[in-house]
Amino acid sequence: MTTDKDHIKKSDAEYEIDTLTNKKLLKDHEYDGIRELDNQLPSWWKWLFIITIVFSVVYLIRLWVFRADDLIQRKEFDKEMANAKANAPKVETIEIALLTDATSLANGKETWTKICAVCHLVDGGGLVGPNMTDNYWIHGNTIEDLFNVTTTGVIEKGMISYKDQFSVRQRLEVTSYILTELVGSTPAVAKEPQGELYE
Ligand code: HEC
Repeated sequence: MTTDKDHIKKSDAEYEIDTLTNKKLLKDHEYDGIRELDNQLPSWWKWLFIITIVFSVVYLIRLWVFRADDLIQRKEFDKEMANAKANAPKVETIEIALLTDATSLANGKETWTKICAVCHLVDGGGLVGPNMTDNYWIHGNTIEDLFNVTTTGVIEKGMISYKDQFSVRQRLEVTSYILTELVGSTPAVAKEPQGELYE
């Protein structure tokens, strides 16, 4: 009767040779008859291991000796934040002043025709909304006055707020259009004056 042990050839070193498979077994690693092989680690594995050690040494030296910027997270964070700030879209700050250039007025006319004309008529003569061609104004006749009414609206009178629908520039364009092109023109049908006369 043969047992497992019969296949095993003793060796002087720390391992024994299994004579059936010719594999090396560690002498003192046995548990319930289960033996541990004494195989070489694959060379790729060993190299990987060595590379990780070299990497860690290089990393530590760069971090703690040369204080490489990109490895220090605090600095990296600050750098990113500075970058983000520099590239952030500029908040458009527009002075509320009458626009007179042709492009702005053309844009203003487009908005007026598409949106405002429903209540004020294309030629500004006035329908639900007041006449824009005369010098009578309910809320004042400066560009700021017109801009403010367009921005906040007069909801109880039926004038909508255009704060969300149009940008500051668009609101400025359309009110500039009113003041430069509509005021003083002669509409087909003029609504009776509303508000006060401004000279
Ligand atoms: C739904 C109808 C309606 C639309 C659309 C409308 N308005 Fe008006 N608008 C009114 C009414 C009504 C008033 C009068 C408010 C009041 O009596 O205080 C008014 C008043 C105004 C005034 C103030 C006039 C004054 O005499 O002081 C301005 C400026 C104005 N609108 C601009 C615009 C612009 C610009 C648009 C388009 C972006 C527009 N409105 C679209 C109904 C409208």
